[in-house]
Amino acid sequence: MTHPTDTDVLGEFLISARSSAEYRAIFALTDTDLRDRSILDCPGGAASFTAEASELGAHVTAVDPIYHRTPAELRTLARVESDRANTWARTHSDRYRWDWYGSPDEHHRLRRIAATRFGEDVTANPHRYIPAALPSLPFPDNTFDLVLSSHLLFSYADRLDAEFHLMALVELSRVSRAQTRLYPLLDHIGRPRHELIAGLRTELHDKGIRTEIREVDYEFHHGANTMLVLHAPGTD
Ligand SMILES: C[S@@+](CC[C@H](N)C(=O)[O-])C[C@H]1O[C@@H](n2cnc3c(N)ncnc32)[C@H](O)[C@@H]1O
Repeated sequence: MTHPTDTDVLGEFLISARSSAEYRAIFALTDTDLRDRSILDCPGGAASFTAEASELGAHVTAVDPIYHRTPAELRTLARVESDRANTWARTHSDRYRWDWYGSPDEHHRLRRIAATRFGEDVTANPHRYIPAALPSLPFPDNTFDLVLSSHLLFSYADRLDAEFHLMALVELSRVSRAQTRLYPLLDHIGRPRHELIAGLRTELHDKGIRTEIREVDYEFHHGANTMLVLHAPGTD
């Protein structure tokens, strides 16, 4: 069990820059899940998933409140925040498994590459990056084949309450015509959020949204090897 320490003051939401390889592992995605599919990534942060999956033939839209900034500002932010994320992980190194990345240096290198890729794509294809914020998305119902949400809900349960989580989950599910996948199910210091998630699953069930917890083949924070899947009403 992870206990908070004096170094656990993270400050603002991290604007992390995960790569498509990380997204594929986190969300158990295959090429078939991506090719020709319309996908929402919310929050997109400085991740290069949108850029890389688009090259594979996916139609990806990323949403994040930071996208009201200029591409030049976002390029700088992505670089600075990749460094902050790597410093955070090194400071709490014992809370993580490093086998997927190899080492803290390799983690930094991969995130820097993803941040650069994000910066290039947000400059060349700004229409893919929509400034908006949960719990309200500017899309009609059932817009996307697949909705992905990594490292916002549950991760920041220290400042986002249960009501916000429920509104955000219902909103993500509203714009999905099939699945919404969420990862991780721990908060940013590695505490499992079982009680919060169990309560939310009950409320989602009552709204006709079926949920399941699935194991994934990725674990960076110790114990973070599951994702939550929401099934849009009327789907299998
Ligand atoms: C840790 S990053 C995750 C980015 C990306 N999904 C990844 O895994 O690399 C968290 C992101 O959530 C964004 N964020 C904060 N509040 C939000 C909200 N209400 N709706 C959508 N995104 C939000 C932040 O701006 C930040 O970019």
